[in-house]
Amino acid sequence: MTIGIDKMGFFTSDYYLDMADLANARGEDPNKYLIGIGQKDQAVIPPTQDVVTMAANAAAKILSDDDKQAIDMVIFGTETGVDNSKSAAIYVQSLLGISNSARSFEIKQACYGGTAGVQMAFDHIAMHPESKVLVLAADIARYGIGTAGEVTQGGGAVAMLMSQDPQILALDNQSAFHSENIMDFWRPFYRRDAIVDGHYSTDIYIDFFNQTFKDYSAKYQRTLSDFSAVAFHLPFTKMGLKALRTVIDDGAHSQKLLKEFDHSKKYNALVGNLYTGSLYLSLLSLLANSKTLQPGDRIGLFSYGSGAQGEFYSGTIAPEIQPQSLAGQVEQVIANRTRLSVPEYEAMYANGLSNAGGDVTFDAADDDSRFVLLGRQADQLV
Ligand code: CAA
Repeated sequence: MTIGIDKMGFFTSDYYLDMADLANARGEDPNKYLIGIGQKDQAVIPPTQDVVTMAANAAAKILSDDDKQAIDMVIFGTETGVDNSKSAAIYVQSLLGISNSARSFEIKQACYGGTAGVQMAFDHIAMHPESKVLVLAADIARYGIGTAGEVTQGGGAVAMLMSQDPQILALDNQSAFHSENIMDFWRPFYRRDAIVDGHYSTDIYIDFFNQTFKDYSAKYQRTLSDFSAVAFHLPFTKMGLKALRTVIDDGAHSQKLLKEFDHSKKYNALVGNLYTGSLYLSLLSLLANSKTLQPGDRIGLFSYGSGAQGEFYSGTIAPEIQPQSLAGQVEQVIANRTRLSVPEYEAMYANGLSNAGGDVTFDAADDDSRFVLLGRQADQLV
């Protein structure tokens, strides 16, 4: 029996900001943002979307009625939760009509929460092979208007259905991880925007990549040549490239890995940081855009959550994979977005998350039948 990712769905905001426009407004050379940091566009999240609606919209695209009955665990990885008590998973479970015979809960460790969910799902299915697990990874990355981190904002959701005999990626059950108490990025309860030391965080990320990749290689006797590609958590696309550069050389295989990295960053450069979902958007980007990857090829995945937790694990591409269908789904969402001017973005940013906290009301009735946040009834029993 193989276990892994059977289906993947993606959703982001209908609005984006062009990074050249942002650079011009902030008095920076656009090439700093486009090349130096590696971001082209950035999702801007309106007050009608939060992590629950985005995750529900991502999952709605992939779940059949049979899946909804078979799912017995809903895991929501996020660091932009809507409630300090109630999990975002329960909301999504209810919105999508997923069976109530399920464990439904939220996981938090910065950007690592999605990977914690994937690993927990793997273990659960290994014990209960008929189970299906829905893993949701959704976030809204906010650093503040005019901050150094502004160019690395973004947001969106990736939904993954995990099962036996998966049709996208079979996990190897081989993994190396490292955690350490580090203050590189955090967001205390009283803040809507994160506190980050971006340069320090980049150094720790590279350090954790090197440690976990070395541990993985020693544990499983694998070298870089055993991987056809490596997907990274991408807060901004240059960050993953910096980590990759620490392990490659001038040889042909390294050049292939660099080429595959270009495919793996395409969607992330257009959406920005999804925190928990970033590694999985990068995996989608790689699988959808690579011209050379084949079923059976092994992919390495590096997950990082500030604070800090790192994990390097691996899987092989399933025979049934349909790259065009993955590409079509993501590119349709991205192509339908509306470009905002910088003042429009700033106004939307000021409104975003303004309703955070309390219960939520949803409507599934706009043109695309999406879940839309209408308002919250905070501090009331309803
Ligand atoms: N043309 C081309 N390149 C240029 C350029 C130009 N005109 N001008 C500058 N550059 C290059 C620089 O050389 C530099 O490249 P290298 O890093 O390769 O040297 C790059 O552009 C950036 O320049 P700076 O370092 O001077 O930029 P900065 O000081 O403004 O900071 C940043 C950049 C650190 C990425 C900042 O945007 C930031 O802090 N962002 C947030 C980072 C972040 O997300 N950290 C958390 C990571 S983990 C995560 O996702 C969080 C989690 O777990 C929850």
